[in-house]
Formats: sequence, structure tokens, C-alpha cells
Amino acid sequence: MGKKITIQDIKQAKKDHKKIIMVTAYDYPFGLMADEAGVDIVLVGDSLGMVVMGLEGTVGVTMEQMIHHIKAVSRGCKNALIVGDMPFMSYNTSIREAISNAGRLMKEGGCDVVKLEGGVDFAPTVEAIIKAGIPVQGHIGLTPQTASALGGFKMQGKDATAAKSIIDDAKALEKAGAFSIIVEAVPAPLGELIAKAVTIPVIGIGAGSRVDGQVLVTHDMVGLFDKFVPKFVKQYAQIRPTIIDALKAFKEDVITESFPASEHSFTMPDKTLEELKKNIE
Ligand code: KIV
Repeated sequence: MGKKITIQDIKQAKKDHKKIIMVTAYDYPFGLMADEAGVDIVLVGDSLGMVVMGLEGTVGVTMEQMIHHIKAVSRGCKNALIVGDMPFMSYNTSIREAISNAGRLMKEGGCDVVKLEGGVDFAPTVEAIIKAGIPVQGHIGLTPQTASALGGFKMQGKDATAAKSIIDDAKALEKAGAFSIIVEAVPAPLGELIAKAVTIPVIGIGAGSRVDGQVLVTHDMVGLFDKFVPKFVKQYAQIRPTIIDALKAFKEDVITESFPASEHSFTMPDKTLEELKKNIE
């Protein structure tokens, strides 16, 4: 087993100009595979609502569902730092509730840190959760939980004013004590400016290559979820057709009785079979 990645390792990576690798996982086998691939951070994202539960967005994901999936991932993933996503409305109504829910993700789920969406407006919440002893990762730019208010799943920071306010968000999160920030769907030059504006690692998803690390939704990058593929996703594999082919081959084998073959079947001594047949006649 490798070494457990810590927050300090993630912060040090930026100082050492070493890229941070982050992917999502929602269950035990993907947690195991992420560790085996040597990624630094595994995010149990609320994208689970879309790529695992078949919802239209992330808003419907509950605390119970997040805890259930974080538990499964943390059983498989022993090396990577595990981030638990705070679902919509688990941190938005009061700071007290935010601390309590962040604590549940950590205590009941088993994640190492929590992530929440929002910048300047949520800096006091981030600060309070950190004061309670729970490390926080920020998420700015396109924030899927409030995508409808942002005009849909669209690139953010188009004009200078909007871009400046995302930089302000990053600075506010750094001041509040966040150990790193996800920046989603912004122009590549803005991604670079954000990474330069703060000393904590900035991990991009659709924010260009000049940030401190990259995160992708695993189901997007391995071609397991292809309802829509965002522009910023590179597909490294096409798992879905492989699985469908396997299911079709199984169906065919069952119909033709080619499965199960003798190597998949248990045998019985001839004598026992004879005796059994006599007993049931
Ligand atoms: O929920 C998620 O998967 C995320 C990523 C898009 C960063 O927040």
C-alpha cells in the first residue's frame, strides 16, 4: 500500500510545480482503481446525481446519498485524499447547519475534507467549517448546484467584470483558509490568472492547462456516461460499448445454452446422481 496523501502534500505540490491529479469516484471499485492509478485526490462529487442516479442536475442529491457513496469510496481508496462534496442546501441555510453537515460527511462518510460551491458569499461559511476542524476545498466559476442562476452549464467569466469577480472569489476562499480551489468552465487565460492570484492550489476543470492540477468526472472520461459530454472532457476510454457488448454476448450465450459451460458448472459424482434419480422416481 502506498502513502496516504495529505493536505500538506497537495499544498506542497503547488510550491514544487508538480501537477495535482484529481478524479471522481462514487463506489468501492472506482475508489480502488483511482488509488491503483496513483491519483492524488478522489472527489466523491455530487455529480453522482447525474452520472450514477440519472438526475438532470446535482440539486436533488441528499446528505444521506452523499454519506452512503463516500463510505463506499473510502473503503476502496486508501492512499488518495478523499473529498466529500456538500450537497445543495446542506451548507446554504446557516453556518451552524453547514458545520454539522460537514462533520457528518467526515464522521459518517469517512472523507478527509469537504468541498462546497461558492466564493465571496460563502467565505464566512468556509472559515467556520475550518475553525471546527474540517478542511475545505472551494469550488468557483461554473458552480453546478446554482447553474440555473448562472444561465445554465455555461462558461463563466466572459467579460472583465465577471472574470475579476471570480478572482475575488478565489482570494476570499484563500483568506478564509480553504486548502485548494476547484475552478470550473472559465477561459484558459483566466484559469492561469486565478492560479497566479492565490498561493493555494487551483485545480481546473475546463480552466485550461496553466493551473495547478486537473480534475475530471471519471464517468465522462472513460465513456461510461455519454448523455452529454462537456467541451472540456477528454475521453480516454469508451467503456460503455464494451459493457453493452458483454451484456449482449451473455444474452446470446444463455439463449443458445453456451453458458454456463462445464467449466462454470459444479459436478456431482455419478454414483450420487444415480442414487438421487432413484429417490425422486
Ligand atoms: O461533483 C463533481 O463531480 C464536481 C466536479 C465537477 C469538480 O464538483
